[in-house]
Amino acid sequence: MSERAVRYAREQGQRFVSELKDLLRIPSISTAPEHVADVRRAAEFVAAGLRAAGMEQVRLIETSRDQWQGKPGHQGHPLVYAEWLHAEPMPDGHTRPTVLLYGHYDVQPAEPLEEWKSPPFEPTERDGNLYARGAVDDKGQMWMQVKALECLLKADGGLPVNVRVIVEGEEEVGGEGIAAFVREHGDQLKADVALVCDTEMFAPELPTLCVGLRGMIYTELEARGAATDLHSGMYGGVAPNPLVALAQMIAQMKTADGHIAIPGFYDGIEAPTAAELEAWRSLPFDVEEYRRREVGSTELTGEEEFSVLERTWARPTMDVHGVVGGFTGVGAKTVIPARATAKISFRLVPGMKPEETFERYKRFVEQICPRGIQVTVSLIHSGDPIVISTENRFAHAATESMAEVFGRPTVFMRSGGSIPIVGDFVRELGTPTVLMGFGLPDDNLHAPNEKFHLANFHRGIESIVRFLDRVGEPARAES
Ligand code: BES
Ligand code: MN
Ligand code: MN
Repeated sequence: MSERAVRYAREQGQRFVSELKDLLRIPSISTAPEHVADVRRAAEFVAAGLRAAGMEQVRLIETSRDQWQGKPGHQGHPLVYAEWLHAEPMPDGHTRPTVLLYGHYDVQPAEPLEEWKSPPFEPTERDGNLYARGAVDDKGQMWMQVKALECLLKADGGLPVNVRVIVEGEEEVGGEGIAAFVREHGDQLKADVALVCDTEMFAPELPTLCVGLRGMIYTELEARGAATDLHSGMYGGVAPNPLVALAQMIAQMKTADGHIAIPGFYDGIEAPTAAELEAWRSLPFDVEEYRRREVGSTELTGEEEFSVLERTWARPTMDVHGVVGGFTGVGAKTVIPARATAKISFRLVPGMKPEETFERYKRFVEQICPRGIQVTVSLIHSGDPIVISTENRFAHAATESMAEVFGRPTVFMRSGGSIPIVGDFVRELGTPTVLMGFGLPDDNLHAPNEKFHLANFHRGIESIVRFLDRVGEPARAES
């Protein structure tokens, strides 16, 4: 165990936080065309941090997306790459394992701005928390990885394992750029294990290994009716209304008891094992408290025959994120819009394939499309669902490292969220992946007042240091 690196982390912790604040000041919102330059600035910041830590071959890798905001040929956001491949061989002459560290430096938009107690891009400390967009998702957690490397490199003069780092700037918009890079240049990311720090803990003080993520397809429906916007008095009664059509189609996709009505939608779904369900039942979880404190609604909805954890971790969903069309300003305007759109996504669970689900959905929408309306269904991005085995030395190294740092045994959870590239790491590259996350359930990811509990930032760094140390140890015969 590198006590020196842990000591370095404790001595330098305040500086690490102040650097993180500098990174958080950059509004690297990947979905916003007006922030393209900020996104690049954040990439440069991460690259500089990796160089300062002592990493080598640090560079930005350009990605391009054919369809970026509908502008063909637009430049995608860059990847940041770094490596350090000089780990001393094992006593028996074998090379040390290579660990691939992954995170993302892009963030979600900050709206609604008026809900923030301090501005989203002016990081502010309150009660041991650091508030800012991206604090925990994922700049803070990605920075823990960079700082863990710095601790080991500066305190010990080297790393206990070989390391590659890949940080992306398009995770929040589907990660198409990194997926293409993995397809075309996967060999450059060759590793024995990938460490992803972009998930959360089940509860405060409870070290957690995430062992499953849902996949997703994110789509847009466009409905067109009349050739142009029309006076709703003159033409109301005969002109097709695309907004009404969207509402009708959306309403037919899900029944009142939470079932998705698309034919074949649930075919092939793999349920969690009895052992997994049993383990979930023993997690400290109070449905009523969850409803009140986390969701804040009068009731929880969805498939009543499944528990809340099953519904969020192991069942697919359909959600509508926004509907746009017609008149949305103050006051009134009597118009029948010619066109309306809706953003609709589905979360997928093991056994479901993004392409198949999309085809089923598209066919269904085309079938139920009301008379006089032309509907276009487009796929914006997609990612595979994933479940991860806990029976390997890398998962053990992670659970033991976190248990040491938090002083309690590590629990396993799945998450309802998605990190599209994780499926590619596992399937394209065949790299076992460890999801070690330090967010808290009330960290407000994607919402106003996002925060990172600073104690977890520091514990995260120490957990990563210990994890890398353990992975570098000669493999013990596993009993
Ligand atoms: N870090 C999250 C995913 C996450 C959140 C995993 C909480 C586990 C627990 C990630 O940045 C994210 O938000 N992903 C998007 C992916 C999408 C845009 C393709 C998501 O889940 O909505
Ligand atoms: Mn994230
Ligand atoms: Mn996110």
